[in-house]
Amino acid sequence: MNTIIKQIEKILKDGGIEEYKQEARLIVEDISGFSLDKILLGQEIENREKMLDVALKRADTKAPIQHILGFSYFMGEKYIVNPNVLIPRDETEILVLECYKLLKNKNGKVDVLDIGVGSGCISCALAKKLLDKDIEILAVDISFEAIKTALENADKLDLIRKIIFRKSDIYSKIRDCEKFDLIVSNPPYIPLREKDNLQYEVGFEPEIALFAPDYDGVEFYRRIIKDAGKFLKQDGILAFEIGINQSEIIKNILIQNNFKDITIIKDLANIDRVVIARL
Ligand SMILES: C[S@@+](CC[C@H](N)C(=O)[O-])C[C@H]1O[C@@H](n2cnc3c(N)ncnc32)[C@H](O)[C@@H]1O
Repeated sequence: MNTIIKQIEKILKDGGIEEYKQEARLIVEDISGFSLDKILLGQEIENREKMLDVALKRADTKAPIQHILGFSYFMGEKYIVNPNVLIPRDETEILVLECYKLLKNKNGKVDVLDIGVGSGCISCALAKKLLDKDIEILAVDISFEAIKTALENADKLDLIRKIIFRKSDIYSKIRDCEKFDLIVSNPPYIPLREKDNLQYEVGFEPEIALFAPDYDGVEFYRRIIKDAGKFLKQDGILAFEIGINQSEIIKNILIQNNFKDITIIKDLANIDRVVIARL
């Protein structure tokens, strides 16, 4: 095996990084610009010093590798990430795919509201998958810094014409005349009481993106569901990513607020992960 990869793997492993093989691959492929397979077949690579620096920084600080490299992958695309936004998670791809299935056969203009846009991964991935549609996504976040990052990502992916960004505390800056076919959100859902039990790396991500103040972590769902009726078109859809043990509680809140056709989709670990409901 190529020695640089061995060296990087060792630095990461000695630093206690669990997924040291995947991360070593990411570092080498990103910095060299070549695939690991090519490198193993003898491809000459440059910037070895930089690769070692990144690995040492990761091992020393335990900051997420995505923060050190400055990007993360989501649905095959590279997104800029920084400490102001949540690092996109694989589970969120399930939410995007479900939204895509719900909207792909819709005729005419499609209006979407993404609450808590963060890095922009949901809005951008959905816009990209529905590129041939007349789609307009209003992407809101309470964090101005997150909106700046999402805007950069939309620009990088050439999706600016499809997404409007606005600073808003949930619906606070949505006008009464604005109506949506779909409201999608991956809101903060970790109960604050679990703060001390999280993986060390999560501590580098913004608290505002992670935690909900109530015992069950469903406060944001409650707020979004309560006023969703005002902003959804007839037959409009609500789609959420949810956390562990939250599906039953959220289902009940939806029923209390007259939502129907409630569907729950599991993730690969068999955990209820996405909830879809219709008004
Ligand atoms: C779990 S992150 C999701 C980010 C991104 N959509 C994703 O799926 O990776 C939640 C986002 O909600 C935002 N947020 C928190 N409170 C909010 C509020 N009251 N109104 C709007 N957005 C809020 C956070 O800033 C954060 O960007």
